[in-house]
Formats: sequence, structure tokens, C-alpha cells
Amino acid sequence: MTESLRKKQEVIVFNAVYDKEVMAEIVSEYHLYRLDLASEKTAFLAEHGLKCRALIINGHTELTSAELDLMPNLELVVCSSAGYEYMDIATLKNRNIQLTNTAAALNEDVADMAILMMLASMRDLVRAHDYVATGKWAEQGMFALQSSLKGKNLGLVGFGKIGQAIASRASVFGLNIAYHSRSEKADTAYSYYSDLHSMASWADILVVVVPGGNDTENLINQDIMEKLGPKGVLVNLSRGSVVDEQALIRTLKAKKLGHASLDVYLNEPRPNKNLTSLDCVTLYPHHASGTAETRHRMSRLVIENLNAFYEGNPLITPVF
Ligand code: DGY
Repeated sequence: MTESLRKKQEVIVFNAVYDKEVMAEIVSEYHLYRLDLASEKTAFLAEHGLKCRALIINGHTELTSAELDLMPNLELVVCSSAGYEYMDIATLKNRNIQLTNTAAALNEDVADMAILMMLASMRDLVRAHDYVATGKWAEQGMFALQSSLKGKNLGLVGFGKIGQAIASRASVFGLNIAYHSRSEKADTAYSYYSDLHSMASWADILVVVVPGGNDTENLINQDIMEKLGPKGVLVNLSRGSVVDEQALIRTLKAKKLGHASLDVYLNEPRPNKNLTSLDCVTLYPHHASGTAETRHRMSRLVIENLNAFYEGNPLITPVF
């Protein structure tokens, strides 16, 4: 399809893509309705929604059935994130609206972040930095002894592409690796636990990489945390909803769990201060995929999926 034909295609934008240059390309190639920039969003959607066959959004934005009602001609939702748990998936499926996401672009960066978070927790990097920077080193002497990573038991909660990328990195560090997922994978030598509680009892470190949404809400509950134990480390790279946050605060305060390393929270970007003020946490601002390279690739997938759709080609990264 030529650029001038594309320019006639009307697309509604709930969120701009991450990469500004790719967004500029989308702006120049399509006829966009920028709901993201509109002040009266419902009126804007009511006026322009029915013209559009495609929609650009990210996984942090709601897409409700009431909004979908205002887009009777919608055929495609292009999500610039991996996650899409705030969308009304049932309505999308009932209406045969296709969905694409960008999970394929971010596995490696998220797996790198899992290793960083494990190491930062085991060696208490955040407190150590502060120890040097504030002069406590000179006043109080040697920093407390920390834990080795080598030889520890790592339990992966979720064993999709990200879980597998973490496992291949973790094996280089000499960790013993097991995983919990809905079903056992045929082509892996790592131990499988069908029961998450048993894996938590075995593990020194649990890394959570399952999708968010109703199915996984509060999957990591107080019992799992206590089974991980006073020296245990919980790393959450999935969604805040997957961990019972109140239980996490209680368990950390009671020293029944050693450390939590978190990239995701309930109530982002203002996570609970009772959690963030604890000194047994390592915090990252939901940015495991936040590298220029990966966000560029995620953004490119948005325009590539749009182009494929309008050209009548198979979508590049369909969810359904
Ligand atoms: C995703 O893509 O879902 C990541 O969590 C970043 O938003």
C-alpha cells in the first residue's frame, strides 16, 4: 500500500507509542484521531470512534465495553505493550476484533533485569551504595556480609519466553533452577513443580513472570511468601496484582520473608509507601523493558502490525 493510501486509513490513538521517531512515522503515514491528546475524551470518542477500523493503545490503559460500543467498525487493537489486562478481552473476542502485542520484543531485557534484581537483592546493592555515599563505611566499618547467588535454588513462577530466557542466564550463575507453570514443558531439563507452594518451600529465590489479570491475582500470597522464608527473595517482574501487597508488607515487616525486589506495584506510579519505605526492598519503576533498543522495537511492532493489517497481510505479532 502506498503512503498516500495509508494516509486515508483512520486510526484512533489511545496512547502514543514509546519511541517518538516511530510515532512521527505513524503520524505521517496514517490519519490519526489523537484521543490521547483530547481533553473531552468521551465526546472525542463518540465523534470519531465510528470512523476507525484500528486502535493504538498500551497495556496500562483501560479499554472498556462502553468505549468499544463507540467504535462499531473496529477490527484491530494494536497494543504497544506485552500486557493487555485492562482491556475487555471478552468483548474483543465476541466482536472478532483482533489484538496484537509486543511481548516478542522484550524477553531479553526483562530477563536481564531479573538477573540484576536477584544480584542486587542478594548483595544488597541499594543499601551498599548508600553506605558508601553517605560516609557510613568510614563511621561503621565493613558492610554486613551478604549471600552468594551460586548454588541457590531459583523458582520461576511462569515459564514462557521470559522465564526461559531467565533460566538460561541463571544457569551460568550456578543456580539450581525449577519452574511452576500450568503444564510441564516437554523440551526442558529444569525441574517442574505443579504445586507452587512446594516450589516456594524448595526455593531461595522466586522470580514471578506470569501475565497479570484475574487468573493470577494474588497468586503470591502470604503462605507462599512464608514458605520462601526469612532468607528468601521475591522478585516480581510481572504485575503488582500478582502479589498480595498487604501480605507482602506484613511478611517483610515480620521478617518472615527476607527481601522483595520489585519492578511492578499496585497503584503505579504511586506505590504504597509502607512498602517502598522498607529497607528490605529493591525497587525499579516498572521499567524492565525500558531500554531505547527494546522500546524502539516495541514501537516498530505497532506500525508493522498496522501496515500488515491495512495491506491484508498476516499480523506480525497477533495475540488472537
Ligand atoms: C509491558 O510491555 O507490558 C511492560 O510491562 C511495560 O509496560
